[in-house]
Amino acid sequence: MPTVYVTRKAHFNAAHRLHNPDKSDAWNRETFGKCNSPNWHGHNYNLEVTVAGEPDDETGYVVDLAELKRIMHERVIDRVDHKNLNLDVDFLEGMIPTTENFCIAIWHQLEGALPSGELHCVRLYETERNVAEYRGE
Ligand code: NI
Repeated sequence: MPTVYVTRKAHFNAAHRLHNPDKSDAWNRETFGKCNSPNWHGHNYNLEVTVAGEPDDETGYVVDLAELKRIMHERVIDRVDHKNLNLDVDFLEGMIPTTENFCIAIWHQLEGALPSGELHCVRLYETERNVAEYRGE
């Protein structure tokens, strides 16, 4: 049977600050630039979650996209949308909320929660031009 890759997209807004408390203020300003702004700033994030598998004999689905949508909302979107990523989100605690770290954390939120298929890729757009992708390696 052929493997098919099915993707569900979602959108959310969140605030953050990139700051490494182990480093000096000067190092943080130099390293993170505008994303180190002490009074936070926001991004319009786009998330794409890809599930791989073979279409089911009875449904023709790799994964029921309505169910994938529900799981993405329950485990990720509802917990980060209109939130402060540094302060409000338990699964990002102790982490510098770069797109890279956030993307990996989203993978761990979804891994093992899918009704069928295998989690293949989490792609997180912080802006239209800045994207991180994680495939669980
Ligand atoms: Ni930023």
